[in-house]
Amino acid sequence: MPQDPTSNVMGIPWPVTTRRRPDGAIEVGGVPLPDLIRRYGSPLYVYDEATLRDAARGFRDAFTTAYPRSRVVYAGKAFLSTALVRILHEEGLGLDVVSGGELFVGLRGGMPPAEISMHGNNKSPQELGEALAAGIGKIVIDNDYEISVLGDLTRNRPEPFPVMIRLNPGVDVHTHRKISTGTADSKFGFSIVDGQAALAAARILGEPDLRLTGFHAHVGSQLFDSEATIAAIDEILDFAAAMNDRHGFVLEHLSPGGGFGIAYTESDEPPDRQTWAKVIGSAVSEGCARRGLPLPIVTVEPGRAIIGPAGVAVYTVGSSKEIADVRTYVSVDGGMADNIRPSLYDATYTAARANRAGDTPHRSVTIAGKYCESGDILIDNVSLPALRPGDLVAIPGAGAYTLAMASNYNFATRPAVVMVRNGKARVIRRRETYDDLVRCDIDE
Ligand SMILES: Cc1ncc(COP(=O)(O)O)c(C=O)c1O
Repeated sequence: MPQDPTSNVMGIPWPVTTRRRPDGAIEVGGVPLPDLIRRYGSPLYVYDEATLRDAARGFRDAFTTAYPRSRVVYAGKAFLSTALVRILHEEGLGLDVVSGGELFVGLRGGMPPAEISMHGNNKSPQELGEALAAGIGKIVIDNDYEISVLGDLTRNRPEPFPVMIRLNPGVDVHTHRKISTGTADSKFGFSIVDGQAALAAARILGEPDLRLTGFHAHVGSQLFDSEATIAAIDEILDFAAAMNDRHGFVLEHLSPGGGFGIAYTESDEPPDRQTWAKVIGSAVSEGCARRGLPLPIVTVEPGRAIIGPAGVAVYTVGSSKEIADVRTYVSVDGGMADNIRPSLYDATYTAARANRAGDTPHRSVTIAGKYCESGDILIDNVSLPALRPGDLVAIPGAGAYTLAMASNYNFATRPAVVMVRNGKARVIRRRETYDDLVRCDIDE
């Protein structure tokens, strides 16, 4: 049970403002979750603005303290909305996008184009054109095809366009295979080991309308140790030194990407942001000193660590099924259509009953979704008090890679999203309606 018996504060992994009220209801941002469900329906994604701002500001402060020439850009793939972009900009963060759609939302949310960078292993000519037309700060080139397309699109610009190269440093990480990106067998980036990265650098340096400013290597997501990130920084710096020897190239920008892990359950203990900042800052400054390189601007790209802890998913219990000596399934009104992480990565979560007191003995249950897949399980095994139809189950740590990956499977309508702060709630994305489900249909 996540609740500390000596306090009404819920603790990790709940948003910082989470409390258990005397009537047993959980409140976030000063607003009881049952009230939110009554007002906005179920299931509902609730984001705590205090936790979000604390993470955004905390990352920025930690990195600028540890390494003054640093920037924090939010990886929009974790979750994106115009209201969120506005808050992140207020907190001094930039935005990393991976598609024309994310770019559109970033601009619509008021992010200055110069603060936006674009990643992706197969950016289309149209997306690259949109990025150039918007005047974004930087494009991170992933492959040879992109060099050709960008070379053509930038022909005869008044100023060469700043780009970085995505390197594949060939380092292994301790995380799920599907969120590991820096090993030799990855679809992302130019491999340093087989010489592709050096060829790409030479090619870009020969493009008159592109300006190579530096190198990037994101090695994976939900990382709990810095070993692979440090190894990647070392590889980037070796590569930068080699490019300096060969071409006189001066490294202006370096990025180890994002990937900073968060707690999903009470037992998860990820490093804090100060630790990440110190480790990355020292790896860059000591690594540059050893190689005689000037200090580059370091950009980190946290997604999950900014938005994940701020989000709570709230579901309503419906049916239950007890299979003697096997398990008890408790089904809720959402599941893999709003959160595919457990099915995709075996991701784990904790949960709490969010609407009432009455401490019946806890027992282990499986929280199942409502979609037509046996694999639609949100939590395989969690200890909860008795649940009956109409009870609310709240899942913390649900802010990242949930709605961002949501689908309309089984023609589910995507849940509404509310932002809570100081006892007030505002809808930042409305619930989809049945009409939305046929919005793109043509039946002539
Ligand atoms: C290039 C890049 N930067 C940043 C991120 C964000 O990762 P996280 O949300 O784990 O911080 C990703 C995630 O896939 C990525 O590919």
